[in-house]
Amino acid sequence: MGIIVNEQTAVFHLMGKHTSYLMDVHCGMLRHLYYGPRVYGEAAQMLVRDVRAGYMAELPEEDACPGASPDTLPQEYSGHENGDFRVSCVIPESADGDAVCRWRYDGFELLKEYPRPEGLPYVRADQTLAIRLREEKHGLTVTLYYAMLESCDVLLRHAVLSNNGQRPLELKAALSFCIDLPQSGWDVLSLHGRHAFERQIDRHPLSESTEIIASARGISSHQVNPVCALAEHGANETAGHVLGCTLVYSGNFALYLQPDSFGQLRLAGGIHPDTFGWTLRPGERFTTPQAVLTYSDKGLGGMSRSFADAYRARLISGADRCRPVVLNSWEAAYFDFDEARLLDMIDSAAGTGIDTFVLDDGWFGCRDRDDSSLGDWTPDPRKLPRGLAPLVRRCEEKGLQFGIWIEPEMISENSCLYRQHPDWAVRAPHHAPMRSRRQLILDLSRPEVIAYLKGVFDTLLADGGVRYVKWDMNRNIIENASLRWPKGEFAHRFMLGVYELAEYVVTSYPNVLIEGCCGGGGRFDAGMLYYFPQIWTSDNTDAEERTRIQYATSLFYPLGAMTAHVSVCPNHATHRTVSFESRAAVTWLCVTGYELDLCQLGEAERQQIPTQVEQYRRLEQTMLTGNCYRIADPFTGNMFCVQVVSRDCRYAYALVYQRLASQGLKIERLKLQGLREEAIYHVRYDGEEFEAHGASLMRVGVQCHWLREDFAARLMELNQISSADDTI
Ligand code: DGJ
Repeated sequence: MGIIVNEQTAVFHLMGKHTSYLMDVHCGMLRHLYYGPRVYGEAAQMLVRDVRAGYMAELPEEDACPGASPDTLPQEYSGHENGDFRVSCVIPESADGDAVCRWRYDGFELLKEYPRPEGLPYVRADQTLAIRLREEKHGLTVTLYYAMLESCDVLLRHAVLSNNGQRPLELKAALSFCIDLPQSGWDVLSLHGRHAFERQIDRHPLSESTEIIASARGISSHQVNPVCALAEHGANETAGHVLGCTLVYSGNFALYLQPDSFGQLRLAGGIHPDTFGWTLRPGERFTTPQAVLTYSDKGLGGMSRSFADAYRARLISGADRCRPVVLNSWEAAYFDFDEARLLDMIDSAAGTGIDTFVLDDGWFGCRDRDDSSLGDWTPDPRKLPRGLAPLVRRCEEKGLQFGIWIEPEMISENSCLYRQHPDWAVRAPHHAPMRSRRQLILDLSRPEVIAYLKGVFDTLLADGGVRYVKWDMNRNIIENASLRWPKGEFAHRFMLGVYELAEYVVTSYPNVLIEGCCGGGGRFDAGMLYYFPQIWTSDNTDAEERTRIQYATSLFYPLGAMTAHVSVCPNHATHRTVSFESRAAVTWLCVTGYELDLCQLGEAERQQIPTQVEQYRRLEQTMLTGNCYRIADPFTGNMFCVQVVSRDCRYAYALVYQRLASQGLKIERLKLQGLREEAIYHVRYDGEEFEAHGASLMRVGVQCHWLREDFAARLMELNQISSADDTI
């Protein structure tokens, strides 16, 4: 297993436990041969044939490849104006308007370790293949990095472009990867939505037209997530071929799905070219974000578990570490609090099992609404005349940790920071900047702004009182301009600034846990997860709508990456009422927490909290490290069920949720997954207890209880009581 290079046939084979990724050098070009279930190497080279048809560009004669054309040759990193009319991975233009890019293979290298894409988050790997392509006339080189995480069949890729020529080049596109696949009956699955309604599933058969899954909002966005899956028609949670793709990037991105007229499909992606341009001077290089691919013949479930395993082992720091159970002040008080009210909240959390109090928006500058003070990160003297110290102290006395909200990437016009540095707000040269949520963007592409923000974090965190930070970002970026950089470079440089700042904070303050947030889940992506182990999934805390948001998010991300809070009912977003028990249970498929005023909560509910937290703590390790199986789909049915199985298969839990009670409910059996067939499990479900073999639980299934309650969640727990060997 690993990487095999056959220098004679010029075939490159990256092998996972169950998958193969094959390329070769053909007609002087790097050709994609195959991606899918494991095959035995070289044969693919013989099986993939050149295709020529009318009107096609011919390769130069010296290549002695009369049958081949760039128009149909399956590529690994496409050029431009080279006879391949599909999406270009790179568009390099010299000052005199030459944007031709004809890549030629230029050699390879095997590396011991996957090199970090400069300044960018990444999934780490060991053995790495680096393949060089050269565009001779421009003096441009691209190095393509490939690694396969064998145990989870995850393939990593990114590209580094280097100008080794004499002339500056304008990069008008610089994607991370492309791959040309046979177009055999794929559906495309992506996640779309909007604020407080993120990551809904869209799945439809690919047509003959190009599809672009993209964001140009300056963030990966609520609207579209930087992921997609190609799923064989009919592929489901347990069966069928699925190719999953995600970008480790949090800014403007594009994923292209481009069928050609010969039955091939180009999947390409990276930074969105619409808001991108980069001057690459002689001697300089440009590094693209990493793309993460996986191939599963075990359906969508297999794909999800591969992504989850890769991210937990190689992307997210401390993915398996127990997380704080927080009480967050936002839905409890919004901007309306003073020191006394916060101290009461802290007191009310003591003894409940909640271990961290997080002070959300409204604590700084002079902030009663969302129209002021962003940038002035010192306590509001009217609300907190003694600063944060009394809150930190009270938390310590009560055995809690103290956490705080911050939105470092923003600036309010009504702030001291803006009065001092109006030019630090992002704006185009001839237009006033557009507001959104009554705030402007701070230009994090500028080093002096990053230096200022590092100082802000130092002031907040250096004395060790703050142990948890919620890092928010509450608007899209509208103008792509910086006074500091040429047009086109801003959007990516802004992201590099965000990453530099995040890296500084997590490395300088390793004991502080950071929760990512972007008006809920507007930047829920693998890029942010490199720095922050958990992200606020959505501003929508309604358990009913959360079932779908969480279900869809789990397709591409581990459960432990999501935070979910129990809030009050009627819910502030949807006005729906769901029982306190069910609200809590739905959060147990994520990192749980509370976001309500405990002082105003009814006694009966308050008393449930210690038991709820205790219950969650029993599930937590399994949720953080176990295998996730989606059993019932809330997008298509009345039930929602997600099951998590511990790595050793000895313990499992499932969250079973019924949307609507009805006299017309149908018999529904939950066919569990991931258990040991021969082992006997003791099952506890909604007051019932019984024993059954894993095989029966998985094949016969557990019949759902019909509940006379809408939006009702029940926990099912399974403990193995005999080892598989005892029962043979
Ligand atoms: C958006 C976040 O998602 C909320 O949880 C809250 O922190 C607000 N911002 C505060 O402005």
